[in-house]
Amino acid sequence: MIDLSGKVAFVTGGSSGIGRAIAYTLAQVGAHLVIADLTESAREGGPTTGELIVADGGSAEHVLLDVSDSAQVSRVVADVSTRLGGIDILVNNAGVLVSGTVVETDDETWRRQMSVNVDGTFHCTREVIRQLLALDRPGKVVNISSISGLRGNPGFAAYCASKGAIVNFTRQVALDYAAHGINVNAVAPGFVTTEMTALYDDQTRDALSAQTPRGRWATAQDIANAVLFLASPLADHIVGENLLVDGGWTIGTPVQL
Ligand SMILES: NC(=O)c1ccc[n+]([C@@H]2O[C@H](COP(=O)([O-])OP(=O)(O)OC[C@H]3O[C@@H](n4cnc5c(N)ncnc54)[C@H](O)[C@@H]3O)[C@@H](O)[C@H]2O)c1
Repeated sequence: MIDLSGKVAFVTGGSSGIGRAIAYTLAQVGAHLVIADLTESAREGGPTTGELIVADGGSAEHVLLDVSDSAQVSRVVADVSTRLGGIDILVNNAGVLVSGTVVETDDETWRRQMSVNVDGTFHCTREVIRQLLALDRPGKVVNISSISGLRGNPGFAAYCASKGAIVNFTRQVALDYAAHGINVNAVAPGFVTTEMTALYDDQTRDALSAQTPRGRWATAQDIANAVLFLASPLADHIVGENLLVDGGWTIGTPVQL
């Protein structure tokens, strides 16, 4: 039902985890994938995302990019857009997770968190929308936020602030460009098993699963499925949405009182 043949999709942080599943899923329905990451290697090991896609008959390339570097983003987006005739779909997925209460968070840690999650999303969104406007083309931007952008998460002050910023940035940018046919939306994952969440021990994992109505963590594929929908024409009339993919965690705990 979804066919993205002829579309170019630019997925940041696509070498590992959730971004890897997103890139693979978009390539399966015909998009050409530009996987933009600090490294080509997957944090979880195995073949690169590009190798996986090409082995399954898809089309993909890696570009090295630090999304926190504004000049680098401008250069890479311009290069890719010129070479491939434009970027139709941007997925702002690159992110880092730093821990600490507000008192434990020093300036450098705060800056690092914001520079990747917030500045990176800003840099890529600005450059891709600029080229869409210059080409007078519609497009899709999907930001990866988090349940931590809607609720507090004990001990993760900077991370929660960064994800909250992405939720409202999504709404604001969506408003400015909806009339141009550029849909900007977000997907808010709950707990997902990736290298980022390797810091949680089994006991914590089980406790968090028990607090989730669906009774389990999300897979990276659960998140990729939602991104696929928002990146497709099926979502043409969805504007500024923050789609929770959290097994029901945010709506309440499955404890009967
Ligand atoms: N794993 C979860 O439970 C979870 C929950 C909610 C939201 N998220 C969000 O999903 C996104 C992906 O997380 P993940 O779990 O797959 O993490 P991950 O650590 O497995 O993968 C993150 C990828 O981003 C890349 N990256 C980091 N900094 C970058 C930079 N400056 N420029 C370019 N690439 C960079 C890394 O190299 C890596 O490939 C993040 O935005 C994260 O905050 C994750």
